[in-house]
Amino acid sequence: MLIRRPLQIPSSEITTPLVYAERRDFMRLLAAGIGTASLGISPSAEALDAPGNSLGKLISSPFSTHDDKPTPLKSMTSYGNFYEFGPDKDSPGKNAHRLRTRPWSVTVDGEVKAAKTFAIEDILSWAPLEERIYRMRCVEGWSAVVPWVGFPFSELLKRVEITGNAKFVEFWSLADPEQMPYVRIPLLDWPYVEALRLDEARHPLSLLAVGMYGEVMPKQNGAPLRLVVPWKYGFKGAKSIVRIRFVEKQPQTAWMKAGPDEYGFYSNVNPDVPHKRWSQATERRLGEFLKRKTLPFNGYAEQVASLYAGMDLRKNF
Ligand code: MTE
Repeated sequence: MLIRRPLQIPSSEITTPLVYAERRDFMRLLAAGIGTASLGISPSAEALDAPGNSLGKLISSPFSTHDDKPTPLKSMTSYGNFYEFGPDKDSPGKNAHRLRTRPWSVTVDGEVKAAKTFAIEDILSWAPLEERIYRMRCVEGWSAVVPWVGFPFSELLKRVEITGNAKFVEFWSLADPEQMPYVRIPLLDWPYVEALRLDEARHPLSLLAVGMYGEVMPKQNGAPLRLVVPWKYGFKGAKSIVRIRFVEKQPQTAWMKAGPDEYGFYSNVNPDVPHKRWSQATERRLGEFLKRKTLPFNGYAEQVASLYAGMDLRKNF
């Protein structure tokens, strides 16, 4: 994010929403014919480990936006940020195939009565999977509309007992130089760590995502488990999470360490607070030409503004 790059996606790379819709219908038919979705049974453990496989029956969420067309899947898999796989927008799509997503476990520790480690297979069975169509706004000025698949973060809180000291929660991404070549280079202070205030994490919009577009999460988008917080800039959504740590004090995140005057702890989408080097007033949707106005809290003000009542959001950017 410190490196500015023009937004360039060849039009040949972009699947139109119609093609996306047809493809999804096809996936659904496939699931109904030979899969297990028609029986109301979850896909098998192996099926859940292969990006592109259908996630079967999903609950549609009242939190989904239906005002915007979903961004073509191909744009989301070929253009993004995952610095562990390289600094360019096409690096994740080119290099993330090196990530091994099984075996995978997530350790939950810090301010909890007893630390626990969960296998990804257990996590996948915690709750029925929901489809949540969310707007996503990247701090660099591009945006997207993504049908994520996952479950609310609060599902985790049903399975661990936090102490009275837990005020914040950190999300740690994997940092394995064997699989992630750029972890050998100090682009950031690895591992990639993001964090939320506990009430933000508990907010029903905060999602732990395991897939998108009805399918198992592509590796470049953060398989097997990533965070999605739609009212914040996209960098809050840590990918390929291996550790969730509850803490008492406001943590330093990877981006705060990299650029303390450019990246604040809150990082709520705010068109009125420019980034130190560019305006945040407008955004360009992936696959679109014209820019559009950025909305406060990325359009989720009604749901989340009360979390910040009385706070100066210029100071707490
Ligand atoms: N998580 C990790 N581990 N490493 C990263 O570099 N980049 C962040 C976020 N999560 C990043 C990460 C940024 S800057 C953005 S905008 C989003 O992932 C991009 O998600 P996407 O590629 O699925 O669109």
